[in-house]
Formats: sequence, C-alpha cells, structure tokens
Amino acid sequence: MRYGYFDDERREYVVTRPDTPLPWINYLGSENYFGLISNTAGGYSFYKDARLRRLTRYRYNNAPLDMGGRYIYLRDDDPHPSGPRAWSPSWMPMRIPLDSYECRHGMGYTIIKSKLAGIESRTCYFIPIDQNLEIWELTLSNHRDQYANLSVFSALEFCLWDANDDATNFQRNYSIGEVEISPLSLEGRGARGEGDVIYHKTEYRERRDHFAFYACSEPLAGFDTDREAFLGPYRGWDSPRAVEAGQTSNSVAHGWQPIGAHHVKVRLAPGEQKTIIFLLGYHENPKDDKFDPPDSQVINKRTVLPVIERFLTANEVDRAFAELQNYWDGLLGKMTVNTPDVHTNRMINIWNAYQVMITFNMSRSASYFESGIGRGMGFRDSNQDLLGFMHLIPDRARERILDLTATQLPTGGAYHQYQPLTKRGNNDVGSGFNDDPHWLVLAVTAYIKETGDWSILSEPIPYDNQLGSETPLYEHLQRSIQYTLDRLGPHGLPLIGRADWNDCLNLNCFSDATGQSFQTTTNKEGKVAESVFIAGLFVLAAKEMAELASRVGYRNSNIKPTFELRPSMFYLDAAAKMESIVWQHGWDGAWFRRAYDDFGHVLGSKENTEGRIFIEPQGICIMAGLGLEDGRAEKSLNSVSVHLATPHGIVLHQPAFTRYYLHLGEISSYPPGYKENAGIFCHTNPWIMIAETMVGRGDQAHDYYLRINPSAREALSEIHRCEPYVYAQMIAGKDAPTHGEAKNSWLTGTAAWNYVAITQWILGIRPTYDGLQVAPVIPSAWKGFEAVRWFRGVRYDIHIKRTGTGNTVALEADGKPVTGNIIPLPPVGVEEVHVDVKVA
Ligand code: GLC
Ligand code: GLC
Repeated sequence: MRYGYFDDERREYVVTRPDTPLPWINYLGSENYFGLISNTAGGYSFYKDARLRRLTRYRYNNAPLDMGGRYIYLRDDDPHPSGPRAWSPSWMPMRIPLDSYECRHGMGYTIIKSKLAGIESRTCYFIPIDQNLEIWELTLSNHRDQYANLSVFSALEFCLWDANDDATNFQRNYSIGEVEISPLSLEGRGARGEGDVIYHKTEYRERRDHFAFYACSEPLAGFDTDREAFLGPYRGWDSPRAVEAGQTSNSVAHGWQPIGAHHVKVRLAPGEQKTIIFLLGYHENPKDDKFDPPDSQVINKRTVLPVIERFLTANEVDRAFAELQNYWDGLLGKMTVNTPDVHTNRMINIWNAYQVMITFNMSRSASYFESGIGRGMGFRDSNQDLLGFMHLIPDRARERILDLTATQLPTGGAYHQYQPLTKRGNNDVGSGFNDDPHWLVLAVTAYIKETGDWSILSEPIPYDNQLGSETPLYEHLQRSIQYTLDRLGPHGLPLIGRADWNDCLNLNCFSDATGQSFQTTTNKEGKVAESVFIAGLFVLAAKEMAELASRVGYRNSNIKPTFELRPSMFYLDAAAKMESIVWQHGWDGAWFRRAYDDFGHVLGSKENTEGRIFIEPQGICIMAGLGLEDGRAEKSLNSVSVHLATPHGIVLHQPAFTRYYLHLGEISSYPPGYKENAGIFCHTNPWIMIAETMVGRGDQAHDYYLRINPSAREALSEIHRCEPYVYAQMIAGKDAPTHGEAKNSWLTGTAAWNYVAITQWILGIRPTYDGLQVAPVIPSAWKGFEAVRWFRGVRYDIHIKRTGTGNTVALEADGKPVTGNIIPLPPVGVEEVHVDVKVA
C-alpha cells in the first residue's frame, strides 16, 4: 500500500493522504536556520543549534505523535452549507476531513495543498538561501460561485530558546516569557495595525542578543501572543477558542506560554485568489545596541525591519524560491545517472544526495527520532557522513574535516562527540571508542581523491583544541594509525575500548545497575577485549596511509613533524601484520569472527550459541582486501547470504541475544530483532554491497541494494511505515514481531554509505588521486547506463554498454583508448570529457 508517489521531474515526493503511518517529514534550510516539517505541517525551527537556539516548541513522544508546528486555520465567517465552520488546511491539528489533500516534499521546501467546500489553499514553506527566516506563503482560491468571507489564523508556539530548559525548568519558565508587538509601516502602503509583527524576546532583557519575529503581509483583524487566550482554557491546538469564535483577543503574553497568532479577514469573489505571507525569523543585534531608545527595554528594530519588509512582498518570495531551486539544481547536478532501474536513478539523482546533505547539516541532532537536545556531532559519524557529500560541497567538507581533527587527542584517539556551537570535545562521553581515529583517515583520503587538494595535509590543527599544540593534519593521520598500534590485545588484535563501530558492543562495561551508562561506565581494565572489526578497519586505513605516504613523499618539506615520519612501507607492513593476525585469530572457517571478550572468549564464531556471525567484520575485512585472492571473501559473503540476509535487508547478527549478557553490554539489552540486537542496521548493508562488488558479484550487490532502498520499499509502506524517500537507521530484523518496520529515519550513516556503495562500487564511478575511475560491477541483465559526474571542475559524460556478462572494462575518453580504468585528468582548459565504456 502506498500513501503517495514520486514526482521525479519536480524532485518531490507527493503524499496523497494526511494519515501516513508515521509523520513523513522534510527539512527546510541549508546553512544556519533550519526547520523540520511534517506532511501535516508539524515540526519546529532553530538557528544553528537545535538545543540552544530553538525558535519554536515541539513536544516529542506526544499523543498524537505529531502535534505542534506551523499551523494555519481557516474559518468560514459566513457558514457554508456544504462545509464545516473551521478547518486546518494541513489536516492537522483539527483533522476535519478534506475534499482533497496533497503534500509535496521537495528539495528544501514543502507545499501543502488542500480543498474543502470550494476553498482551495496552498501553503509553501521554505527558508531562503542565506537568510535566517522562514516563509509560509499561503494562497487561497475561491472556487465557489458566491463570495467567501474567511478568517485566516496563523499559529505557532515559541520555545524559550534552550530546548532542554524549555522542557524541564517550569518554575522559571512560567515567569520569563516576554513578547513585544508592534505595527509595521510598509512603504507605499501606509501605516499598518498593531500586531503586524510579533517579537518573541524572552531573556533579551538580560544576556541574549537575539530575538524571534513573526510577521504577516496583510492588515490584521487581531492577534494573540498568549497561548491560553488563543486556545481557551483546557483546549488544545485542535480546537482553539479564537478560531471557533472568529476573533483573537490581542493578548499580550506575560510569562506562561508565548505564542504568535495572526488573524486576517479575507473576502474572496468567485474565482478570486489571494496570497498572504507569514514570516518567522531569527535576528541578532549588537550587544551594545540592543534597545531603541538605548535606555529603554524596547527592541532595536533598525536592522531587522528592512529584512521583514523585503520578504513580505510576493516578488521577493518568488525570487527567493527560484534561488533555492537553483541551489539544489547546482548541487544535484554534480552527479546524475540514467540506469535501467528507477529506484537507483531516483535515489542517486534526488533523494539519497539530498539525505546526505541533511545528515551533513544535522549530524544526529534533530529529526523526529533525535530530539535536538541529545547528542552532539559524532566523530565517527561525521567522518563517515563526509564520504557521501564530498563532491557536493567540497569547501564545507574541508571545514568539517578541520573541525573534527581539532577534537583529536594527542594520543591519536578522539573525543567521541563534539558540540557544533562551541566545536569542543564533549567531556561527558569522552574518548576511548577505539575505532574513531581511523574514520578520519578514510575521510581525509576520500577528500583529497575527490578534490586534489593536497594542501589540507599541511593545515596546522591543534589537539583537543589546545592552542599551541598544532601540527600538520598529516601528523594527525599518522597518530590515528599509531593509536591502534599502541593498543593491541593478547592476540595482537586491536583492543576495543568502550566500543567500536557498534556502540552497543560494550565488552569492558559490566553494567548491572539500572540507569548506568553502557558506554561510559567502564569497569574493566580494557586490556583483554579485542575487536576484529577494528582490525579490518585498521588494515583499510593503514593501506590508505601507505598510499598517501608514497605520494606525499617521505620528506615533504611542507610537513614539519613532531612525530616520526613513516615511509609508505611502514604502513604496508603494519597492514600485512594485522592481516596475518586476523587470519590466525579472526577467521572462523567460513566467516570473520567479531571480537574477543574480557574473558578472552571468542564472539561471532561457530563456538557461540548466540551471536555466532556478525555482519560488520565481513563487510570491513573484505573492503580492506582480505580474502579477495583466495576465495575466503566469497566464503564469508556466502555465509552472510545464508545466515544474515532477509528480504528486508541484512541483519546485524544471528542468532539474536535472547537475554541480557553482562559481559556484552547494551547489544543484549534490546529485544531480539531491534537496533543492534540483530536488527537490520542499514548502515552496515552497503559494506556488504561493496564487498560483493569486490568479488565481482553485481547481481547480488544490487539485489541487497534494492532490499533497503526506500523507494523500492514504497509499495510496502504499511510495513515499512517510515518515509519512502529516505533511509532509516534500522529496519526490524527477522527475530522481531514487526520484521520489516523501519525506525529512525533521516539522520543515519546509512545515507552516505549507500550513496558510496551504489555510485562508487556498483556503478563504479570512483574518484582516485590520478583521475576518475570507472569500474562498474552492475547486474548482468543491465544493458548499460549513463552518468554525468563532475570531478575537479570537469564534466564527465559517461556511457556504459554491456557487451558480456562479466566486469571487464574497456575505456575510451574522447575517442582515445585509456589503459586501465582510470581516466587521466584532461589538460587545463578542457571542461568536458566524453567517456565510452564497454563492460564484457
Ligand atoms: C548509531 C551511532 C553510530 C554507531 C551505530 C551503531 O548509528 O550514531 O555511531 O556506529 O549506532 O551502534
Ligand atoms: C544507543 C543506540 C546506538 C547509538 C548510541 C548513541 O547505544 O543503540 O544505536 O549509536 O545509543 O549513543
């Protein structure tokens, strides 16, 4: 069953009924000001940091789940025989049945359209590029054959900035809410009424230099800023008294719950249309110029008014919307494909690229599953996210790499998380997740391959943000590798620390008290438990380092080390040594083992009754090249297919843990089939797809790709339940009663890794140091495909034809045969290269 359809032409998903199984959301904003918006106009907005600068309030885990947002109410002031007195054109919160409904989630905007009793409404929500404000552009059309007299109400609830405080500190919050209400005089339209602009200025009197504004383009019939006055006592957003009565009360909030609500009266002739613009925004004033006059408590509006006035005009709104579309055209034009599979095309060309940008902007902070007040930015997560969007915005990738590197510790380890506003490492979580540093090596090498920007290696970057500790970035990478060499366990495998990629495999935390953290309560010395996963990741990273070292040159004069500079051979040796340890202690006969616990017992082996085989080491060890030459890679992948694959994706391990194991930790805290306990943790599936391409099995790789591809799962929407246009972190595994149900959509490493798996490995278009590589491992039934890929300023127009069923590639660039499968960069000045590829 479906709840909508893809409109690929317009890059939109069109939701055709409001009662989707879960709220299906979209994101607004691209740089500093962001919003989340559901298909029924729920959601909230924030400036930069979802916790510390929250503009509007949102209650998680509410009933109904999605209540509160950017609501508009319509009221028939002259009751119409075929319609209700009042309704929500976005269906929620009033839930009056609509004659028609449609929500179009597009690239950075959402349009909700509906019709009831001859009144059509269309609201376009978006955030202009480079602006700290959002626009709700409402267009009403009267399809009746009489005049329509309507009251339009807009409503939102302000958050008192710090979202955590806002949801907890009521003894203070109920007394501090403040607003200011003032008229607007628009040039050429004369003075306007009171309430045109509602300013939310809680705490502006003291240390804040910022406030929010909520403005309307039309003369008002009234306004409200006090929630109780608008809703009426004991009422909710589904039945505001002001809407019922057809009149707001010009309330001024003093404490309690400040809101913004405008009331506009509209008289529409038959066939007439009218557009009303609502603006919600964030503004900062200089600390010493906050008030006007200076000795008053009145907000200085000199710099904000021009912004408000500008965006209350339809022309500016149209222009800003066109600019937003150009921005996305530019980004999404960096890589487009035309393959025989619609789901592949749609995800690469539109939704996967979009999701990757959203994960870049949000990390794991704000979604309908992440409350915006929890985690900061993960070191491991953000490094992996980088792999997906490097080619879209290389400058911001560079900046992100530098920020992340500055939270590395002198040992080579890293803070597991940092806070985006301060860019400092987070002490509560600390460090000691022993996989963390290696992801930095993967991110940096991927960045250089994409951009050719070798200068990044010489950037001086501190450790733990301590001034004076700067070394070149290159040395940070060396220390990343060294970190593991300094932490080897009894078998010579890397010690796991608090956890490796699997945050929930906590082998050094024997947690038996309620409420204890699984990750930070470390009560074992940590000198025994080892990770085969980190071993594989280490081999991968060390090989990347070896290649980097050989190119940078052992004695590159740019690099002034404080740490011994190692030649390429050093890293190759280290990788080879680790490989042989993996074969000795990490290979189980038919698959790679997972770990050794604190007692030195193996995990992920036929010796185990639960947790016999895990997905992560199969993926990462093969990606690192293990077993490619002697058939052991195929063997491992065959085991994955037999033991772990399901029609809904590949589960994390089998058998699931049926009880809590003190020595394994959080992984066994989840009921079987959910999350890390044998759920389909989608992040890991693309590793297997990549591994399958490395052993040349394109059919199998693409089959796995389609199992979790959200578009390919659209027809299962009542089972999948999350949005069919973006990946979710998890799909319930086969041990769960809800097998196939997705959770935690949007903010997941799944986005970047699937993008990498499909574009770089299955379609095989891979950036390398020396040029763009084209090495597709595609399904045998495909006749070929086409792709456009921008790479270092050159547009590659790639045409692939299948002439046999294997993966052997013959390549021509601009009509000339190329040796191997890497197209050398064209001479300076050549901006386009035509590539013909035969795959036999
Ligand atoms: C979450 C974390 C990620 C971790 C994964 C597996 O997605 O953000 O860092 O690797 O869970 O535990
Ligand atoms: C929990 C989750 C895991 C996530 C971690 C973040 O352990 O199961 O997916 O990575 O929290 O701290």
